[in-house]
Amino acid sequence: MSKISAAITAVGGYVPDYVLTNKMLEGMVDTNDEWITTRTGIKERRILKEDGKGTSYLAIKAAQNLIDKSGVNPKDIELVIVATATPDMKAASTSAYTATHIGATNAFSFDLEAACSSFLYGMSVAARYIESGKYKKVLLIGADKNSSMINYEDRATCIIFGDGAGAVLFEPNQEGFGLQDEYLRSDGSGREFLQATYGGSSYPSTPEAIKEHKHQVFQDGKTVFKNAVFNMADVAVKILDRNNLTTKDISWLVAHQANKRIIDATANRIELQEDKVMMNIEKYGNTTSATLPLLLNDYESQLKKGDNLIFAAFGGGFTWGSIYLKWAYNS
Ligand SMILES: CC(C)(COP(=O)(O)OP(=O)(O)OC[C@H]1O[C@@H](n2cnc3c(N)ncnc32)[C@H](O)[C@@H]1OP(=O)(O)O)[C@@H](O)C(=O)NCCC(=O)NCCS
Repeated sequence: MSKISAAITAVGGYVPDYVLTNKMLEGMVDTNDEWITTRTGIKERRILKEDGKGTSYLAIKAAQNLIDKSGVNPKDIELVIVATATPDMKAASTSAYTATHIGATNAFSFDLEAACSSFLYGMSVAARYIESGKYKKVLLIGADKNSSMINYEDRATCIIFGDGAGAVLFEPNQEGFGLQDEYLRSDGSGREFLQATYGGSSYPSTPEAIKEHKHQVFQDGKTVFKNAVFNMADVAVKILDRNNLTTKDISWLVAHQANKRIIDATANRIELQEDKVMMNIEKYGNTTSATLPLLLNDYESQLKKGDNLIFAAFGGGFTWGSIYLKWAYNS
């Protein structure tokens, strides 16, 4: 019997209706549309406004979109992974709530957290379950309600992040399509440059911390930028070299949408032309765990069976990596 590989067989996505534009941010912090556009490529982002709705709301909507489009029976899904840096609550799995609400009542589920690399790492984990031969349907959802941890008085962060979710279904493939290779890394010395310090187990929230916005995201943008540019390009080159791929073999670069300049730098390093680089940062900003599946959802109609996709991501921690995947279907 030929080798089992883990193929993506369906995608779905969801972003909230509320649009926060650069112009609107001009009225909130000392910034302007021109600065945000030239420094980041972002024009607007989506925000989940309604009280009491968390990341699971986004995850459920994206999964339901996938189910509606593909016709998969939720009862056949065996595992639901929610990749997220913003779980609904502490001590209660966001994935369990999500799985139950999409009708995946025969599945087990867990959350996976690796900041902006959560979805990329989730692809690796989902693939191992499929490749084992024991699991036939694994649903991987990347979802984040970043607005829940952003300080809308801090221009260094509030211009970047948005809310959203995307979902992919992994199934076994014996024709050579699906996940081919991965190169995943992390480096804990990067933690100080991007974090929400209070509200976790090291420093539970205090009224003083909240007053000083220390429960919300802080980043040293320049240092994160430099590390993201170097490391995303580095892993993309490594995955190409390891698989004897040249630029002309690559159909698409699917890169984490953190900053257009970071994505352009990665594409330049592997000498990839612009029309092979998936880009939707202008519409959504950085949606953390949702950027990669939202790209697949937006570009699904342009993807062809056999296309070689190079994924690359970088996030807090630091965490980063690259994945090489052969697309398995024509839509
Ligand atoms: C945040 C980021 C967009 C800032 O861009 P940058 O080119 O590095 O800008 P700098 O921080 O050097 O700031 C340049 C100037 O613009 C100012 N500035 C910063 N944010 C601004 C904003 N929103 N609007 C206007 N001016 C701003 C700075 O104060 C600085 O002014 P100064 O020179 O007078 O001190 C960029 O560093 C970045 O994208 N970093 C990575 C972020 C990221 O990807 N995080 C998630 C990881 S997955």
